This record gives sequence, C-alpha cells and structure tokens, in this order.
Amino acid sequence: MLTPTAEIVGPAAAAGRGVGAFNVIQLEHAQAVVAGAEAAGAPVVLQLSENAVRYHGALEPLARATLAIAHASSTPVAVHLDHATDAGLVREAVALGLGSVMYDASTMSYVDNVATTAAVVEHCHAHDVWVEAELGEVGGKDGVHAPGARTDPGQARSFVAATGVDALAVAVGTSHAMLTKDAALDLDLIARLRAEVPVPLVLHGSSGVPDDDLRRAVVAGMTKINIATQLNKAFTAAVRAHLADDPLVVDTRKYLGAGRDAVAAEVTRVLGVLT
Ligand code: G3H
Ligand code: ZN
Repeated sequence: MLTPTAEIVGPAAAAGRGVGAFNVIQLEHAQAVVAGAEAAGAPVVLQLSENAVRYHGALEPLARATLAIAHASSTPVAVHLDHATDAGLVREAVALGLGSVMYDASTMSYVDNVATTAAVVEHCHAHDVWVEAELGEVGGKDGVHAPGARTDPGQARSFVAATGVDALAVAVGTSHAMLTKDAALDLDLIARLRAEVPVPLVLHGSSGVPDDDLRRAVVAGMTKINIATQLNKAFTAAVRAHLADDPLVVDTRKYLGAGRDAVAAEVTRVLGVLT
C-alpha cells in the first residue's frame, strides 16, 4: 500500500533498522523493487531521481505509474523524489502526491544550502511532505569522486535546526555509481553524526558497499540506504545473458522480464541484509 515516507523511515530509525530506498528508471524497476520487497516482507522506498526525470522528459508519467504500483502493493511502499536541484520539480512532485522529496543543494555554500532548503521545507511541510536534504557532498554524482568529503557532526546539527528537514544525507565515505572500489565507510563518524543529529540519517551511494559494512552502517546509525547502480548492474547482466542465450529474440518482454526478475531477487537479498 502507498505509505507516507515518514511512516516507513521513522519507525525504522527508532528501532535501529535499515530501510532500502531503490531508484526507479523504468516501469520494470518499480515492479521489481515492489516484488522483491513483498518477497522479503519489508517496507520499501521507490525513488525517482531528477536525472531519471530528465531521461523521460517529464516527471508525471513515471510518477503516476510508480504511485499506482505502490498503491497496489501488499507491503508498505513510499514514493520519493531523489536528488532534486530544481525547486520547481519539488513543487510538481508535491502536487502529484509523492510522499517525500530530497532537495539537494549540497554543492552550494552552507549559507545558500540552508536558505534554499528551508524554503523547500516550508512548502513541503505545508503539504505534509517529508524532506531529505544533503550536507557535505557525497561524490560521484557528475562522474567526479570526492573520496575525502565528510559531513561535520556539529554543522549537521545546526543545519537540521536551521532548515527543519526530516532526514539528512551525509558524506561518510561512500560515492555514487560504484565509482570507487575502495569506499571505506567511516563508522565512527556515523556514530558521531547519530549522536548529534535528531533526524534519520541517509546513506547515498550504497551500491557496492559490502553486506557486512551495510549492516555495520545501520548498527552505527544509518536508516535510509539508497541503492541504484547495483540494481542496474543486476538488470543489465540478466538482459545480456538472455540476449546471448536467445540471439533471435525480438519480443522486448522476454529480456526485460529477465532483467526485472533479477532486480527483484537482488532487492529481496539486500532487504535481508538491512532489516
Ligand atoms: O540517490 C541514490 C543513491 O545515492 C544511489 O547511489 O547508484 O551508488 O547506489 P548508487
Ligand atoms: Zn544519491
């Protein structure tokens, strides 16, 4: 069932559990993530990134399809806008009925990040929409890996107080899109952030982080665990294998279906690690 993000992430943070937040690019991703979550008996977050919106040329078609899939699910499913840098897109997501947004002004100065994020929070809270923001840039978003970026716990506490955000994405050693194989999670920093920051913490760039490290990150205080590239890797490997096995196939359902099944299995596996 379609569920407000706050009702999935809040109880998980209180209980020290992780919540899987998986990116949706195509319809098949949304179907696969929900099937995987139903098999795991776990709630899940489906997230649509600004990049995915650019790929489709609009938010509405994918958002409406994803909301319908969430609505029909037997497990709690939240629908979230991911890495929005455009406040207009945030407003559109709110109007379409998404339960939460991530507004990402992490490349701005601290002062501008606070000011623009606070304005987004004001609009979203007026519509009961939960807001995640980012402080201390997690690398890899534009093909640039910033392995040294770290979020300062004292600044994170001030940022949350000044903006009123409901969750905070922090830089603790991961990088987007599996751009580094040497991602080393700073577990000590996660614990210090947890002690300082009164809202749930979000780990971005979680693809490729070894399962044991993901477990340790949750124990240390991370709640929402964002995974995208790892699902695309599973999807594409299954499509490739199907095409190699059956080079004469023309029905797209045959190989996209294989990709969808592979993603569902990977989601079930990851949710077993997180919860
Ligand atoms: O916001 C989405 C995530 O941070 C995904 O990162 O592709 O490295 O798993 P990833
Ligand atoms: Zn991210």
